[in-house]
Amino acid sequence: MSLSFEGRVVLVTGAGGGIGREYALAFAERGASVVVNDLGGNVKGGGKSSAAADKVVEEIRAKGGKAVANYDSVEDGEKLIQTALDAFGRIDVVVNNAGILRDRTFARTSDLDWDLIHRVHLRGSFMVTRAAWNHMKNQKFGRIIMTTSAAGIYGNFGQANYSAAKLGLLGLANTLAIEGRKYNIFCNTVAPLAGSRLTETIMPPDIVASLKPEYVAPLVLWLCHEQCQENGGLFEVGAGWIGKLRWERSQGRTVRQKNQPMTPEAVRDQWDKICDFTDAAKIRTIQESFQSCMNVLSQLDLEGEVSANPTAAAASATSGINPAEAVGQKLPPTTFSFTHTQCILYALGVGMSTKDPDHLRFLYEGHQDFSCLPTFGVIPSQAAMMDGGLSSIPGLNIDFTQVLHGEQYLELYRPLPTSGKLTSEATIADVLDKGSGAVILLDVNTYSGDELVCYNQFSVFVVGAGGFGGRRTSEKAKAPVPPPKRAPDAVVIDSTTRDQAALYRLSGDWNPLHIDPSFAAMGGFKAPILHGLCSFGFAARHVLKQFADNDPSRFKAIKVRFVKPVMPGQSLQTEMWKEGNRIHIQCKVKETDAVVLAGAYVDLHGTSEASPENLTKGGGLQSELVFAEIGRRIKDLGPELVKKVNAVFGWEITKDGKNVAEWTIDLKNGGGSLHQGPYSGKADVTITVSDEDFMEVVQGKLNPQKAFFSGKLKVRGNIMLSQKLEVILKDHARL
Ligand code: NAI
Repeated sequence: MSLSFEGRVVLVTGAGGGIGREYALAFAERGASVVVNDLGGNVKGGGKSSAAADKVVEEIRAKGGKAVANYDSVEDGEKLIQTALDAFGRIDVVVNNAGILRDRTFARTSDLDWDLIHRVHLRGSFMVTRAAWNHMKNQKFGRIIMTTSAAGIYGNFGQANYSAAKLGLLGLANTLAIEGRKYNIFCNTVAPLAGSRLTETIMPPDIVASLKPEYVAPLVLWLCHEQCQENGGLFEVGAGWIGKLRWERSQGRTVRQKNQPMTPEAVRDQWDKICDFTDAAKIRTIQESFQSCMNVLSQLDLEGEVSANPTAAAASATSGINPAEAVGQKLPPTTFSFTHTQCILYALGVGMSTKDPDHLRFLYEGHQDFSCLPTFGVIPSQAAMMDGGLSSIPGLNIDFTQVLHGEQYLELYRPLPTSGKLTSEATIADVLDKGSGAVILLDVNTYSGDELVCYNQFSVFVVGAGGFGGRRTSEKAKAPVPPPKRAPDAVVIDSTTRDQAALYRLSGDWNPLHIDPSFAAMGGFKAPILHGLCSFGFAARHVLKQFADNDPSRFKAIKVRFVKPVMPGQSLQTEMWKEGNRIHIQCKVKETDAVVLAGAYVDLHGTSEASPENLTKGGGLQSELVFAEIGRRIKDLGPELVKKVNAVFGWEITKDGKNVAEWTIDLKNGGGSLHQGPYSGKADVTITVSDEDFMEVVQGKLNPQKAFFSGKLKVRGNIMLSQKLEVILKDHARL
């Protein structure tokens, strides 16, 4: 079917001659109503005449077409559009074509040379297009052409003013393409080459004659047709040939390291790489353009998780991997201090809720079994990854914008404490060559003092960094294991909330990919995605509840492979198969049935191992001496204290996160008493505190209120009564 413009109203500026005339004739020939605009001046912008436009209008009418003339300068954009509205009642297409030349070498370019060129080309196109914009917006249709030039795209001797204005038009078109898209207003740019009075001074006459304007017009007609969905394109066109242009950008190089100044020397030293167009990226949007910088920020400054990023796959990284050099290298140790707040925030982040009474032990620091979820063990260790330490490892010369978090293994050697300071040490365990990419195995050991608390293995996939001749597999890799081929023994469906990622990130993964829609768009996602390690936390707690009665001390290890992203708000379906103490898991998005965590399993300790070891009955505790002293005082002053305090205090003394002794101070009944063990009835208030912190409090080194707010001292029951503690401890336990 031929392309018709019947019913369309087209304005062509500068249509009294040259290429513009050809556009006007071609549109009219296909049924459009055409406004033929031309000021009728000379090439340099001087003079004025209605003859040029009139002649073209006559030509069109002579062929039976519809056309009116307009003689205003494009700088009076409104008048041109008004002519279209007056004559034909609407405006559908604007072809910004009018132009002049005032060529001079740069040194000789006068203010007038500069201004006139800018006024006609850039300002003129702006004025005309702006006048048409709202009409197009309201009718939800519009096609706009900007006319640039090879002189603008590549530069041309003697055309500084013209080049600048012409490339300005491309910038204008780029933004109009974005702003107009949702109104079906498309804007494209053409750089024509045709014989006209503008080119006759710089080309031989026979070439000028051969480069006919009719070899340009068909492209513009196509771009302006309703069938054409091209928007924001840039085309070179001439002699019947058409080519599309786009940007290419080198892979680039990060020349900065975390916490170090960026220097010109680093730029110089990486110059060849910065300018190397091997495997260049084809950048289409401002988001893609910013992505490399954002990735570096998240790598070096924002402490973001290395996250799945599908666009990364489009470009390949420059591989500079030398396993012999990299394996065994250690990253700088990192420390992580936390209180019960982080434990609770993490539990909320992985979907725990007070709706489920089972969850309270992970959400309420005053709960008698208050515990930290085992998978919190990834949090202290990930700092080692996020500090950008990998980028400083010799033999790992990789592009960190191409990194995906592939797999995760976590093993606990003791239940995690609910507060404290942990130190993590990370080592490059191995680097594997998977052909399409490299896999870096990063082993992270996390210690509390000298005691090893947990071990993590991060598998990091670097897209495009393979082919360095390394091994494909490693005995050091904690491999995923497929589930048994039978129906799962248990299935748990749990919904994530719309704000799940917003909540999870507060546990320390600040990568904007999980919160910022425009950042997510750069990664090729419709919306911010959930953290892989958040789904990991969901799956782990499903197993913990289903097969270990929510007892963190039974949790030994977990392995998962991240397959696909989850969107916040989707439901996770965890399928579980019990094989001895190993629970195989597969996690799907319920709504789409897509597998998101694969080859996954949780290893549990057998029930016999579950009973807390090292549970001493108060032996060797410093607090014993204090209670003994309190007991003596109560004997002396009991009745007086009963009057003053009138409450029963229960005490739970912990060591290494476990309850090791209980005491009751009864200042309510009889003349007051102290005994070891829980109160027979319900204590008015129960205080849980570690042996060490208890000593700090009674020695006045730690303020009880502060201890409470920092999570060191937990209070259940009538919290107000705990204020009377100071009286007892200060006045009656002075040692
Ligand atoms: P041309 O000089 O034949 O046509 C330009 C027309 O614009 C003239 O009729 C002129 O009277 C009109 N005009 C100038 N100032 C005006 C104003 N203020 N208001 C209304 N009309 C005005 O030149 P040609 O070659 O047809 O150029 C058309 C467009 O293509 C121009 O924008 C030019 O810069 C561009 N171009 C042309 C190339 C070529 O090979 N011919 C190469 C690259 C770009």
